[in-house]
Amino acid sequence: MGDRERSAARIEHDVQTLAGPDYTASADAICRYAYTDVYRNTLGYFTERFRELGYEVWQDPVGTLVASNRPRGAKAFGIGSHCDSNRNGGKWDGTLGVVVALEVARLAKEQGLDLPLRVISFLEEEGSGFGQMLLGSRIMLQRVTEEDLRERIHDEDGQSFWESACAAGYEPERWQESIHELDGLVGWIETHIEQGRVLQDTGNRLGVVEAIAGYVHGDLRFAGRADHAGATPMGFRVDAAIPGAETILELERLAREIGDGVVGTAGEVETSPSLINVVPGGMRVSLDLRSVTGGHLELRDRIVAYAEERGRARDVGVTWTERQRLPETPLDRAIVEALVTGAEAAGEPFRVMPSGAAHDTMCVADRVPSAMVFVPCKDGLSHTPLEDARPEDGALAAEVVLAAIAQRLGS
Ligand code: GLV
Ligand code: MN
Ligand code: MN
Repeated sequence: MGDRERSAARIEHDVQTLAGPDYTASADAICRYAYTDVYRNTLGYFTERFRELGYEVWQDPVGTLVASNRPRGAKAFGIGSHCDSNRNGGKWDGTLGVVVALEVARLAKEQGLDLPLRVISFLEEEGSGFGQMLLGSRIMLQRVTEEDLRERIHDEDGQSFWESACAAGYEPERWQESIHELDGLVGWIETHIEQGRVLQDTGNRLGVVEAIAGYVHGDLRFAGRADHAGATPMGFRVDAAIPGAETILELERLAREIGDGVVGTAGEVETSPSLINVVPGGMRVSLDLRSVTGGHLELRDRIVAYAEERGRARDVGVTWTERQRLPETPLDRAIVEALVTGAEAAGEPFRVMPSGAAHDTMCVADRVPSAMVFVPCKDGLSHTPLEDARPEDGALAAEVVLAAIAQRLGS
């Protein structure tokens, strides 16, 4: 068996094991988020695997996992991703990146390469537990405030992130120390499934990512008046859902008009009181707006102005609350080039491309020269149990990442 076949078999074993009942809270999907038993089991799985390789393994004060073959803070090259999942997620999103990092560590050891490596699996990338994406890496990069963690960020039952972290045995009061997990890092590469279908449709087996789209997340709230659905004539209503619905349609139109790859999604739509026989008194529409050009900020300004105008026309109050925002992130030229050289040497088709999805690398890149590698996923499906990818492509990614690290470290 060649190196790639052996890597593919090991990657397949890791990914399939982590799709088993001990590692997901749902029988129909992968559902794994911060501080749940299945998440703890997943960290336990990686902890054991890295200890078998002789790595020291620890967690930052809120539960981001770190493993290294060098002392804490020493010079090392970083690799990893996240191992929480979307609530209705698949086996590959995030998990593949930590599994590929594990495979890189195994290959380096087998090949007798004494490369200084540090693996990081970030807490709560998906926002499934607390409604906030990239939470672990934003904490590490100090892109949150203590007030956010104590009060603003909470789970669906209203328990704050802070309370949850304490209950799980972590020490959120030390959150600012998390930044030291990046001390000594000279580079960072995250492997991830593409979550789109560009690689599949262009017949490529690997993507080298040179930029990540920026995003803004927030909520539009419409405040009208709840009334009896039978007894209130159409002309006497202040129905919050009407300007809300108009806004959702306008979002699509505006995103297309701005163009340049700008995307806008109204993923959460709630009316209140949400009863069949009551005119909606309130409506909340979440907005997820993204681009690599900054055009999503124009989309935000224009869609909020449109919602306010439609609200005024119908006496419906409109407010916009931003949840969070990260700028578009160009990645490090030298690491991108090292990955291109590695991919060329591997002799398989690849392309250099941007990422539409957000990744923890957006935060890491703030401090450490960073890049990413994409692996194709079947039909571009992701954030669904139908998500599928090929372990052979994961093996190719591990080979290329290892070559790029060796090149950057001059080994
Ligand atoms: C991350 O999962 C994203 O939605 O980009
Ligand atoms: Mn992910
Ligand atoms: Mn995801």
